[in-house]
Amino acid sequence: MASYPAGPADLQDGQLRVVDTPYEQLVLCRVEGRYYAVENRCSHDDGPLSGGSLEGCEIECPRHGARFDVRTGKPLCMPAVVGISTYEVEEVQGQLVVEVD
Ligand code: FES
Repeated sequence: MASYPAGPADLQDGQLRVVDTPYEQLVLCRVEGRYYAVENRCSHDDGPLSGGSLEGCEIECPRHGARFDVRTGKPLCMPAVVGISTYEVEEVQGQLVVEVD
């Protein structure tokens, strides 16, 4: 497990931010004041989720409309049937940190 900086804790609910780590690119999300991070890759056809939208806890892939729960990574509708990876996010003195395996 390693920690990587993810920028200031200044997102609003429904906003996304791309975070690069040495392992993979993540999408940081804020839902009801809490931060979540998921891989920036749709399990349907590898589309980047960062170009999609976040409504509540659901991120929608801009390519074919698959949705995932950013809290769990579970797919919520077709065409995705496989989940995406999720990562822990911590806030430390106003800065966000993601924990990546
Ligand atoms: S690549 Fe995301 S729904 Fe197809």
